[in-house]
Amino acid sequence: MNNNRADTPKIAPSLLAADFSCFGDEVQRVTDAGADLLHFDVMDGALVPNFGISPPLIASVRDKTELVFDVHIMVTHPLSYIEALIDAGSDIITFHIESHDDPNLVIEAIKKHNVSAGIAYSPNTKTEAIIPFLSSIDLILPMSVEPGFGGQSFLTNTYNKIKELYNLINDLENTPDISVDGGVTTEISPIAIQNGATILVAGTAIFKSNSPEKIIEQLRTVPLSET
Ligand code: DX5
Ligand code: ZN
Repeated sequence: MNNNRADTPKIAPSLLAADFSCFGDEVQRVTDAGADLLHFDVMDGALVPNFGISPPLIASVRDKTELVFDVHIMVTHPLSYIEALIDAGSDIITFHIESHDDPNLVIEAIKKHNVSAGIAYSPNTKTEAIIPFLSSIDLILPMSVEPGFGGQSFLTNTYNKIKELYNLINDLENTPDISVDGGVTTEISPIAIQNGATILVAGTAIFKSNSPEKIIEQLRTVPLSET
């Protein structure tokens, strides 16, 4: 999964913005439009004030696409969800550092199934909190909105967090992907890429567009200065 700033970033449509009345068709639509991963938001209505996509819904679309299933869990008891999410076909499981006192336990529980592990952290959590775990994870996700809802505006202090993370992981043997999630648009993407983001998650920008294909292509365009 490793990348560096010169590589083409991967685009992950967030299915939270999909039309749930035809969820399978939506998965097909963004697969055909050139997505690299599919991002599923699982929420329990407790860690964040909303409900999201459930493991059975993820399982129901597993055979519709060969894309990587990037599952972002915003739940208070992450350990209780892992088995169900593995069975549903997750390839990456990203949990919130705010959700468990011992993140290493959650990382181990995910990795023992040969699934990639990621850590997300909310806008008010400092990057220092995730430093001890950077060498044992495959993905790091600084949230660029308060987690829970799609359609919010990108918090611009996330650019610094991305850069900070990029500098922190530079010397590691296995560099985790830097994913950015929340309010990502085609205006935001070049700056996020320039700062070191390797995965761009986008819900509203892709699903509410008339041409997801065009938006996905624009989102992954590496700024000229970085090529
Ligand atoms: C927010 C979710 C995001 C959300 C992104 O808690 O984690 O994945 O769906 O949606 P947009 O791109 O609309 O902000
Ligand atoms: Zn998400």
